[in-house]
Amino acid sequence: MATDSNYASFREIIHLYHDDDLVGALQFLDGLNIPPDITDEDSTSTVLLKTIRKHLRVQLQGETLPLYMDADPFVAFIRGGGNVPLYTSLSATLNQLWTSISQTSSPLQPFTVLDVGVGTGEALLPTLRQSHLKPFIYTAEPSAAIHTTTLSQLAALESDGILSGYNGITASAEALSSDRHSLEQFAGGVDVVQMTFSLQYLSQHRELTRYLKWVRELLLQSKSTKNTNPRFISAEFDVPSVANDHPPLLAEQRIKYIFESYLQGLEEYRFTPTFAAVVQGFLIPVMMSKFDTNLIEQISDESADDDRQNGRKHGKRRKRDGEPKKKEGSLTRERTKEEWVNEVQKAGFSKVELKFIEKYWWGDCYMIIAEP
Ligand SMILES: C[S@@+](CC[C@H](N)C(=O)[O-])C[C@H]1O[C@@H](n2cnc3c(N)ncnc32)[C@H](O)[C@@H]1O
Repeated sequence: MATDSNYASFREIIHLYHDDDLVGALQFLDGLNIPPDITDEDSTSTVLLKTIRKHLRVQLQGETLPLYMDADPFVAFIRGGGNVPLYTSLSATLNQLWTSISQTSSPLQPFTVLDVGVGTGEALLPTLRQSHLKPFIYTAEPSAAIHTTTLSQLAALESDGILSGYNGITASAEALSSDRHSLEQFAGGVDVVQMTFSLQYLSQHRELTRYLKWVRELLLQSKSTKNTNPRFISAEFDVPSVANDHPPLLAEQRIKYIFESYLQGLEEYRFTPTFAAVVQGFLIPVMMSKFDTNLIEQISDESADDDRQNGRKHGKRRKRDGEPKKKEGSLTRERTKEEWVNEVQKAGFSKVELKFIEKYWWGDCYMIIAEP
């Protein structure tokens, strides 16, 4: 079956890529003698190989941009495929949660939400349009390119009377929690700290714990100053431990899970006008970064030790002359839903619940809802 032989090729390419041998991976793909152009007759696994080949070419020419520097591919991805039903359910759930949390907060001050890693506001903006609360919104987002467009949308919603105001902070979650004075910016208190698929970007465990503790401190401060019953709410995928971005990166089950899931992901965009942008600009770079040892080594020395104990090579191959370093961008650290609950509880949250949101090709989506 084509998929079986394509899986074997995928596996080979991934091994070469993991060993930092981009040239070897490209040579292997070229040796398969598959025509470069994608046709309607191609199986999705053949399309996957063709798109990886294109990606490696661009990467070897040193032309890849860090993820989210260019907003267009991400926007095309997030507004298509299974993201459409996912975000519809997500915004409806956020609206319900805001409404129920607002019932226990003071009606004298605006309902206040801090959205961290807001991106283009795919979850936040539709929720605002549905909500009757006229809230005050804080946003935090490290990518200035993306944040600028979101802030102009918030300005428009404010002038339409949908918001009572907003304040954007161009910073990462780690930057917020490492700044001793950052709580002062929220002295008026918040009712909700929300995140949708951005908590996974805190790939270093120490940073994740520090950030979650910071969120809890902010919510406790808000509880006393604003007389509210605030919550931390975070949407994430329930991803099997074996598929997570930590060593051993080349575990057979991990490569298989990533191969099979990304075939489904590609399939969702296959015959749409934005296919090339989504796949070359977002899906393939994200997928390849899952095998990038250079990035994984940055996550933690502890993980690297695990990897060494498992006998993995750590990009020790000598680079060919002039060969560029891989630079795929953001690495995530995903978890099973139970592991997410565990992390939040370890940061001191008193009550943590899970709410199922939607099935999705990368994993089922759940909302983690936590009381400080
Ligand atoms: C998958 S997108 C989700 C965006 C948005 N929350 C949504 O649901 O549409 C992840 C977002 O997290 C942001 N991000 C990446 N690293 C981050 C960090 N360390 N702290 C906060 N946000 C981060 C990215 O720039 C991006 O906007």
